[in-house]
Amino acid sequence: MVNIGVLISGGGTNLQALIDGVNSGTIKGKIRVVISNRKDAYGLERARKANIESIFIDPKGYSHEKYCNVLLEELKKRDVELVVLAGFLKILSREFVNEYKNRIINIHPSLIPSFSGQGYYGEKVHQAVLDYGVKYTGATVHFVDEGADTGPIILQEVVKVDNEDTVESLREKVLKVEHKILVEAVRLYCEGRLGLKGRKVIIDRE
Ligand code: GRF
Repeated sequence: MVNIGVLISGGGTNLQALIDGVNSGTIKGKIRVVISNRKDAYGLERARKANIESIFIDPKGYSHEKYCNVLLEELKKRDVELVVLAGFLKILSREFVNEYKNRIINIHPSLIPSFSGQGYYGEKVHQAVLDYGVKYTGATVHFVDEGADTGPIILQEVVKVDNEDTVESLREKVLKVEHKILVEAVRLYCEGRLGLKGRKVIIDRE
């Protein structure tokens, strides 16, 4: 069983998908801790309801570097092997990324490299998709490297953009796909079926 730590900042529907995936046996792992940088993140409540240790660590008073070190310590003392960023709205420090090299998974609500990187998060992504007029958007699960949304891509799935779509309707459609591919990526990771060749992720699909 892989020890998983989940970092959140918001509602936690991706976290909920992971909790359900573990409880149904789809994910051969155990969520050891959920950490949020926001006290009011409903995802903390979701963790509590699932009897998972959930902690709010206030970034106030820490430099960015120091805050990432505090997160790192909390994860390591719980023997976390895989870190999942489920709507975590901070870029991790170089030290954190190196400590957990190719063991940090992030979910992003677009088809990276489109509409990704600095400043592209949450509804801003969907607004940019509508403004640009693309016919397809989607979601991406990727390993985290030192950049913003630039790590090796694990899974992607497309979502059609319809004429009447709004930011809200797109967010809903993409979120459903996010839940699906995030659970699938963590499942594959826990089964040791994700390989890396340079920046290409090779999936061993039995
Ligand atoms: C999702 O859209 C995710 O892609 C983005 O932040 C949102 C988090 O949603 N990183 P939730 O907190 O998992 O519901």
